[in-house]
Order: sequence, then structure tokens, then C-alpha cells
Amino acid sequence: MLDVRKDFPILQVPEAGKRLVYLDTAATAQRPNQVIDAICEYYKNDNANPHRGVYELGARATERTDSARHTVAQFVGADDEEIVFTQNTTESVNLVAYTWGMANINAGDDICVYVAEHHSDMVPWQRVAKRTGARVVYMYPDENGVLTEEEMRRKISRRTKIVCCAMVSNVLGIKIDEKALIERAHSVGAKVLLDCAQSIPHFRHDFHTIGCDFAVLSGHKLYGPMGIGVLYGKKALLDAMEPFLSGGDMIGIVTEDGATWAETPRKFEAGTRNVEGEVGLEAAIKYLDSLGWENIEAHEREIVDYCLSGMKKIPHIEIYGNAPERYGVISFNVEDVHPHDVASILDADGVCVRAGHHCAEPLMRRLGIGRCSRASFGIYNTKEDVDAFLDSLGKIREFMGYGS
Ligand code: ALA
Repeated sequence: MLDVRKDFPILQVPEAGKRLVYLDTAATAQRPNQVIDAICEYYKNDNANPHRGVYELGARATERTDSARHTVAQFVGADDEEIVFTQNTTESVNLVAYTWGMANINAGDDICVYVAEHHSDMVPWQRVAKRTGARVVYMYPDENGVLTEEEMRRKISRRTKIVCCAMVSNVLGIKIDEKALIERAHSVGAKVLLDCAQSIPHFRHDFHTIGCDFAVLSGHKLYGPMGIGVLYGKKALLDAMEPFLSGGDMIGIVTEDGATWAETPRKFEAGTRNVEGEVGLEAAIKYLDSLGWENIEAHEREIVDYCLSGMKKIPHIEIYGNAPERYGVISFNVEDVHPHDVASILDADGVCVRAGHHCAEPLMRRLGIGRCSRASFGIYNTKEDVDAFLDSLGKIREFMGYGS
């Protein structure tokens, strides 16, 4: 088992007088000292505006951002030019929707979206469909929460221009069969965008091997800073796309009549960059690599399985999704108790979980619920955390005046 709780300063501070049990890592991870220190060290030693100052300090700031891009590229199995820095996953999806989507999707085309998508990978496509006259076609999970190959074949057709799918659902924690999805999409000439926001903290990805056309992720779910995200795109696709935002640092030449664009990926990175985000993300990746990905996977599997088996022993708990492997999240309801009450009662015991629709309202409707609670896990969670959660969870119905 990993023993990294000590690296996370926020976990050393009691919350409401209790040991903090943080089970909301799918919303945002906590940051280790290694990330916090890297950001401070950048500001203390190397801060300037990259790609601008010709002085030594400016060159160092440029090196820091180039180094971060290279580290991210190596980490996700891509080339440096295929990595665009954005604010977050949401901006990355919007970038693809409004540049590639508006240029390549027309009336009569289909945009195929998994109904378990986070709103950030659904709403931009609904807007593109409205503006172009295309249709959004939804793929649905089966009764276990699994997206089957049969459903992929049913929904992805010759009309489909792009298929958008989360590698791991932020509610169900179930991984899609990305190989089958990409094979099906490419066989009909469609592109594939994978939302890796919820999968990237849990196992290694290699985008070249996976073969997706676009992939998106956020730094803050990967123990890095907020405000930094990544868009991966195949080089030829990025080269053919128009910029999303325009302004400083993304241009080639500007005249009174117009402008030309910088090379990919910088043509997508207008304005002063979030260097502290890039530096922090690089530090997070190096930290995770130093722990070893087999160790991360084994640790998380043990914690999630331990929690699931404990939850199944508590009566009146409904757990959503049922696949052999579950990555990082367990969504559930306590019979008769509103999820906000569940989260508040757990909070009083120092346990943080998220409650609500989890930015996945269409999936909630599909599951026949309005909302649910979600416990999510990271590298710092321990069996002691799970025991505290289970202990508190087991008392909720009684506390609310129902039988146990
Ligand atoms: N997308 C984040 C979540 O699932 C915020 O909680």
C-alpha cells in the first residue's frame, strides 16, 4: 500500500476538530508539497512572461513552459506539438467543438455522445448541433452501467462525424472499451474525442497507442493546480484547425488587414500563459511517476474494493454501476435520505463526499434518480479513511429517524 498522506499538507489539518477524510478527489484532488513547492520555487526564481523577454530570466520562464509541455507529452504518449495547454477539460472540449466541430459538422451529420458524459462533454456538442443542423445521438449504458459494443454499433453510423466519450464516467467509475469504440468510429470515418479527466489520475494512458483523435484532461484532478488543462490532438488535425481564441502570442504576422497564425500548438494558446499551472502540472506528473503507476493502481484498487464490500454490508444503500473494475468513484443513495443530508451528516464526522447530479443530469435521469452521493478516492486514502466513512454511513438512517 502507498503511504503518501504525509505529503499532503491539507490532510494534516483537522477539519471541524476531526481527522480530515477527503473522499472527493474526483471533484478535485489535494496537492502534495512537491506541487506546492514547485509553484513557489518557480515564482521565486524563474518568473517572467515566456516567449517575450530576450533576457536570461525570460528565457528561463520559456524553458519552464517548454519543459512542462514535454513532460506532459511523454506522460500521455504524444509529441510535444500535439499538446495544447488550456484552462481545463471544459475549455479543451469547447476548443474542439467550436473549431473542428464548426468546420467539419454539417446539417444531416450525427454527433455521437455517451449519455454518461459530464455536461462539459455534452453541452458544447448540443450547441454545435443547434448551430449546424446536425443531430446529437446518445449512446446508453446497459443495466450494469456498461457501454456495450452492440450499443456502439447501433449508434455510430456513416452519418457520425465525431464520437465523444469519457474514458471513465465521473458517476459510475466504469471504464469504456476505448479500443472497440475507436475501431467502430474509425470504420465509419468518424473522429473520437476521449474525455480523460476522470481516468488520467488512475492509470497510464498512451494516446498514440490508443489511437484517439482528441483527448482532454485537467491538471487539478491529477494532483496538479486548478486552471490548467490539456488538449491532445493528432498533429494533422490541429494543423488544419482554426484558432479558438486570438490575440497575443498565437500569431505569425499581423497587419492592418489581418493575421497569420503561429505553428501548432501555440496558435491555440492566446495571451499570457498559466506558467504556474504548467509548472505545477509537471511537478504532479513527476511525483506520480516517482510513486510508480503499478503501485498507484494496486493501492486504489484495494481501497475501492475494501470500501465497496463494506458498503454492500450496510442495508438500504443503492450503489450505481456494476462492472468488474471500478476506477476511483462509488456513487450511491441511502434509501429515504436526500443526498445533501447524507453529505452533511458525513461532513459532521469529518468525511467529505460530493452530493448532487455531478454535472451529469441526463445520466441521473437514465438511472431514474435526481441525484446521488459520491465517494471518490485518491492515492492518499487509507483503510482508516474508509472505516471512518463506513462507520458514519451506517448511522445515517438511524440519525434521520428511520430504522437502521
Ligand atoms: N467534474 C468534477 C466532478 O465530477 C467536478 O466532481
